[in-house]
Amino acid sequence: MCGIVGYVGDGEAARFLLEGLTKLEYRGYDSAGIAVFDGEKIRVEKSVGRLAELKEKLGDNIPVGTMGIGHTRWATHGRPSDLNSHPHTDCAGDFVVVHNGIIENYLALKEELIKKGHKFLSETDTEVLPHLLEEFYDGDFEAAVREVLRRIEGSYSIVFMSRNDPGKLICSKQDNPLVIGLGKGENFIASDIPAIIAHTRRTYILSDGEMAVVTKVGVAIMNYAGVPVRKKVFEVNWNAEAAEKGGFEHFMLKEIHEQPKAVRATLSGRIEKDGSAVVLEELSWDKAFLNDVRKIFIVACGTAYHAGLVGKYYIENMARISVECDIASEFRYRSPIIDEHTLTIVVSQSGETIDTLAALKEAKRLGSKTLAVTNVVGSSIAREADQVVYTWAGPEIAVASTKAYTTQLIVMLLLGLYMAQIRDSLPKERIEELVNGLKEIPTQISRTLEDVDPIKTFARRYGFNEHVFFIGRSLDYDVALEGSLKLKEISYIHAEAYAAGELKHGTLALIVDSLPVIAIATQKSVYEKTLSNIKEVKARDAVVIGIASDTDTELEKYVDHVIKVPETDEMLIPLLAVVPLQLLAYYAAITRGCDVDKPRNLAKSVTVE
Ligand code: M6R
Repeated sequence: MCGIVGYVGDGEAARFLLEGLTKLEYRGYDSAGIAVFDGEKIRVEKSVGRLAELKEKLGDNIPVGTMGIGHTRWATHGRPSDLNSHPHTDCAGDFVVVHNGIIENYLALKEELIKKGHKFLSETDTEVLPHLLEEFYDGDFEAAVREVLRRIEGSYSIVFMSRNDPGKLICSKQDNPLVIGLGKGENFIASDIPAIIAHTRRTYILSDGEMAVVTKVGVAIMNYAGVPVRKKVFEVNWNAEAAEKGGFEHFMLKEIHEQPKAVRATLSGRIEKDGSAVVLEELSWDKAFLNDVRKIFIVACGTAYHAGLVGKYYIENMARISVECDIASEFRYRSPIIDEHTLTIVVSQSGETIDTLAALKEAKRLGSKTLAVTNVVGSSIAREADQVVYTWAGPEIAVASTKAYTTQLIVMLLLGLYMAQIRDSLPKERIEELVNGLKEIPTQISRTLEDVDPIKTFARRYGFNEHVFFIGRSLDYDVALEGSLKLKEISYIHAEAYAAGELKHGTLALIVDSLPVIAIATQKSVYEKTLSNIKEVKARDAVVIGIASDTDTELEKYVDHVIKVPETDEMLIPLLAVVPLQLLAYYAAITRGCDVDKPRNLAKSVTVE
């Protein structure tokens, strides 16, 4: 995700900005930039690539001035490039803005501004902000910013700087973090504490809907109507390393907890306001092609493959198109049957996995249309595919994929609904039901994350077993596969996932006294059948931990422990059922003293075959 810094004081702004951005590098980014006010004009310097490239570009010609803003960009709207990098300016270069998040109504605003004569240089949503400011400014910087904030929709943290108002930065946030660091004769702004911790531990943490006017002598916080807000100073007592992880012990845990926000970002702008339908503006295939698709391949590796399995279920059920889900390293060598009515969807968090990229190229060579579902703008897979739907999960740093999986599931569901809308294969009421269910998912994930103590206890109690089985039917089986991969990759426990109905065909021979079995039983359509399979393993004295919805009162009669997740539509419940499995894997790895974020033998991005 992008990083923001701001400085106002007596010191050299550029020095702090570059140092602060360096502290945010761990979050991942593809370009960087700074803007410094030299007392007369604003100088903007930006560069695609690493901060080192920006520093090289500046050389000894560092912008001079005591007020400035800076940014590391993780591309969303528009590929990584110098022009798309922040800070962005208005036509006259009087206002500059850095922004994290997404301005959902930017297209409408941009059209309106272009009609009024504003000239845009980038493909970003952010660029509407300085132009709006230019439009509303009549000598009162604060009033103009308030007007901008009233006009925009979406999620953001923003810092505004004006050439006409020396010594004053204005910032605001909605759904994205922003902190103000309180110094002596200087104040700081940052999207994350690591950027300021070397200078101060006294901070204000801004809340949604608040705006702060920051000068070197003080900070005034108010709501968008200008009514002052009293805020308590928050003393940061983490060390720098903990601060990078937002106070969490590991990136994996941080990313598990980021899922509500990540899912919100994935959904953002993709659902009609009245909840009646899905909108995927990025897809430009004509309806005739989508109506005529006869076969879909979903191709991916690891966790992304598991998301693809759920995608197969969604698309077949909703759009009534036959889908095959393939492991990428198998797909390219098995001579798949492809023609012009085939669509190949590749799923990849990094967009760089070589097996997936090679499979994508093979599908294209054979004449398939291709669609990438990925998290990284401008990645090799995003560039190679005909069309792209981004997951907008923000950078995932831990090797074990968590928020990438849930956001991939969301995209799969959106794709299923979108194709169903076009092919008229699902009643309108059912589409609305699912869309409305989807809107609740971020809050429901948050609720699932609240009750971790029982999971910690199970992890401690069973964390030293060498073998664990996961069972489930239908979508529960797909989730079981992901739960088992998560456990084995970070805790090194031998974990196997089985379709519960398949146990009796061989694997049941391995079920012995006290062996832990995680049974996922959220799917109502196969519930009774799953219960029978649970009874089979209980009869062999396995210890069973069940995963069920919180309205289930039956499962606890047959298993040793139950972990409950909020009730939702059975299509959506994988988004919730996977969360306790991620946590179980995490705490089992902790119990066993494993290096959670960097498991042995594994890499985050697998660029070898
Ligand atoms: O970047 P990708 O989604 O293409 O990566 C695919 C797999 O390598 C990845 O999901 C891997 O299985 C994770 N370590 C699982 O947590």
